[in-house]
Amino acid sequence: MAYENIDAHGRTVDYLRISITDRCNLRCIYCMPEEGVPRLSHEDVLSYEEIIRILNVAGSIGISKVRVTGGEPLVRKGVVEFCRSLVEIVGRGCVSITTNGVLLEEFAWDLWNAGIRRINVSLDTLKRERFAEITRRDYFNRVWNGIMTAYRIGFHPVKLNVVVIKGLNDDEIEDLAALTFEYPFHVRFIEFMPFGSGEWSSRFVSSDEIVERLKNVGELLPAVSLNSNGPAKYYAFRGALGKVGIISPISHHFCATCNRLRLTADGKLRTCLFATKETDLRAILRSSEDDEKLKEAIVRALKEKPEKHGLNEELFHKCIGRPMIKIGG
Ligand code: GTP
Ligand code: 5AD
Ligand code: SF4
Repeated sequence: MAYENIDAHGRTVDYLRISITDRCNLRCIYCMPEEGVPRLSHEDVLSYEEIIRILNVAGSIGISKVRVTGGEPLVRKGVVEFCRSLVEIVGRGCVSITTNGVLLEEFAWDLWNAGIRRINVSLDTLKRERFAEITRRDYFNRVWNGIMTAYRIGFHPVKLNVVVIKGLNDDEIEDLAALTFEYPFHVRFIEFMPFGSGEWSSRFVSSDEIVERLKNVGELLPAVSLNSNGPAKYYAFRGALGKVGIISPISHHFCATCNRLRLTADGKLRTCLFATKETDLRAILRSSEDDEKLKEAIVRALKEKPEKHGLNEELFHKCIGRPMIKIGG
């Protein structure tokens, strides 16, 4: 019974990232190739009922926090009701969502009323034309309005995710960080990971370089850890309302404290973002009513969670096997 959610490396695994769709209304260059990726068929995608069955089983072994991801989660019909069910199962404050913000203005109140309080929004630039270049869609104003709507409603904190790419948006590190003087946002700079398409290593900016750049903005003070198991290391500028975070999956990976599992939209359990192996929970749940089988499969996968990723450019094409859009970040 006990210790079922402790892996072979002593990590307590209590967090599940649930991708509810592989569809998206953007085409970010760091997430997928320009031509897009083949989409899952309707039958391949887990129903909300199936996801909730998995969550109830995962909950019985100690999964107590969930994040809803995509693709873009807000494009899936019924997402608000689904979030409400998640809140009922794991509790307010333990359900969060990561969105690209395109539909946030429309959905923010509904999500709030469903009990969601924590929201992460991708925002890689403050320039409309550049936004269109990065995401291949001209929706900057919609995303910004969505962020403002969430902020005014009271989501706290609104976390902004910035993937830093050399020559594309690294000249905006300072401007994006300066948002924290005006708003209580957590602006998080993420090292570019080799998903999507095109050149990676020459466009990579390390978290150490990002921190150096942040020092141009103001006096950078380390912030007390806001979430000991989250991937971000936080700082704050003296006098700022918000925080800046650094997520460095490549140069200083955080595998030693990783507490998470991922469920893909087609029902595969991944124990690492860069996993080479997946457990097909969909096959188990569609072939048996017996939740014990699901539980056994989840515990077995969890116990085999890799100690750390061994990612490098040469390996990644072979090992990931899925573009980011099909994992959910
Ligand atoms: P909180 O800190 O709990 O808000 O969540 P989060 O940072 O995990 O959520 P989010 O979905 O906003 O992810 C932010 C970035 O961190 C994305 O680029 C993720 O791919 C990356 N990330 C999140 N979890 C992991 C992980 O387990 N391993 C790696 N390598 N990267 C991760
Ligand atoms: N490298 C780093 N972060 C990425 N994300 C998507 N693709 C990549 C990548 N190649 C981030 C997005 C989103 C989060 C879920 O994952 O910024 O906010
Ligand atoms: Fe869509 Fe997010 Fe991928 Fe961008 S990073 S294409 S918003 S799933």
